[in-house]
Amino acid sequence: MERSKVLISAEEIEKQHEYMRKVKDLLGSGERYALVRTYGCQQNEADSERLAGMLCEMGYTITEDEQLADLILVNTCAVREHAELKALSITGQFKHLKEKKKGLLIGICGCMVSQEHRKEDIKHKYPYVDFLFGTAMLYRMPEILYTKLKKDKRQFFLDDNSGNIAEGLPVYRMNSFKAWVSIMYGCNNFCSYCVVPYVRGRERSREVDAILKEVRELADAGYKEITLLGQNVNSYGKDLEEPISFAQLLARICQIEGDFTVRFMTSHPKDATKELIDVMADNKKIARAFHLPLQSGSNRVLARMNRKYTREKYLELVDYMRQKMPDIALTTDIIVAFPGESDEDFEDTLDMLKRVEYDNIYSFIYSKRKGTPAAEYPDQIDPAVASERFARMIACQQEISARKNKDYTGEILQVLVEGYSKTDDQKLTGRTEKNRLVHFEGPEELIGQYAAVRITRSETYALFGELAQ
Ligand code: 5AD
Ligand code: SF4
Repeated sequence: MERSKVLISAEEIEKQHEYMRKVKDLLGSGERYALVRTYGCQQNEADSERLAGMLCEMGYTITEDEQLADLILVNTCAVREHAELKALSITGQFKHLKEKKKGLLIGICGCMVSQEHRKEDIKHKYPYVDFLFGTAMLYRMPEILYTKLKKDKRQFFLDDNSGNIAEGLPVYRMNSFKAWVSIMYGCNNFCSYCVVPYVRGRERSREVDAILKEVRELADAGYKEITLLGQNVNSYGKDLEEPISFAQLLARICQIEGDFTVRFMTSHPKDATKELIDVMADNKKIARAFHLPLQSGSNRVLARMNRKYTREKYLELVDYMRQKMPDIALTTDIIVAFPGESDEDFEDTLDMLKRVEYDNIYSFIYSKRKGTPAAEYPDQIDPAVASERFARMIACQQEISARKNKDYTGEILQVLVEGYSKTDDQKLTGRTEKNRLVHFEGPEELIGQYAAVRITRSETYALFGELAQ
């Protein structure tokens, strides 16, 4: 798509700011609260921060309390059926809130409702949903909300989902020391199982200067960790008028002054370059952690997934990474029971886990997605077989993760402290540069800061320790 059609004009963004002012005037001066519930990936989290930013500009205060909310916005995910069912079920529960609180506004947006059939479901089966908009309509939320209020009529807005870039929207950051920065949107890869290209449109990169400015502002504001987001960050810059590689962008980000760590996700193995690995190795600001989704260890399945790499090419990349950065932490995504996956194919995936020895894996049972090629493949796997393979996969990785965690005992690790532990409110919790979860006792003031923690004990998914100072 032409660049001029992708970039939303400054006039259009100003028009939306005008709608934000109009909503504010319309609703008057009293206190009002908005709740934004987010499902799915970090891109959705980042989108929700823009939505919340716009709601703040309309005079709403952001809350987590659904009883208090005057407006609830559900930002949905479509990547697996489970995520869709969760979002639908929570939206169903909000019906009762609306019965109790007249005037409560309910909106739904994001990937799930960017599919025509889901939009129709919501329209007909969820009459208490006041407004709906797809991912390409995010920047028009103020206009949609204003129209709903003014006309008192439900609003449903989907376009062709081809996508756009909207700069200059306000943002409400949910965290004061970790921030997301989207560097590109959409995906062109059409992996045969994946719905993302259909709901988030084609790949499009933000301008270099816009990204550098955002990172500079975050660094100046004291953010400790900045995660660059894109469905496939390795394609960054190819569509710009002056093309630039992701590795070059990273190198420029690392020149920004400040005490912050850079992370990025996600990288497609077919586009991960040695140049990128070299830039990582040369820059201490970039976390020694790499998320490289494998999806399957079988070349036959990889081809049917349309992944465009082989296990050999993948292993070559891993070897180069470890040669340059022996201590790098590797994580991956795996899909179990893709249509036609034989016992032998599955064993190939287990074999890759044992060879690579990931620090952690995110594994999912294949979920059929309407409109994707794999949904039409005749050889879908029996759910009992899928569950059995999934359990074996988890067991295989647990052994590796537990062994790797054990190696940390006695070491002193730098931990970015995130808050109190969810399972033990006497303890603080944080993550290391390599994304290891660490629990330890310490003062509240450490939240948002780095702490040196001596590791005394480990479990499969967590480390335990004490302050080293
Ligand atoms: N079924 C199961 N897992 C999927 N993913 C994407 N689409 C599907 C699907 N249809 C997984 C992939 C991807 C991660 C974000 O979600 O592993 O990397
Ligand atoms: Fe989906 Fe593949 Fe694009 Fe990732 S690269 S979003 S798995 S189509």
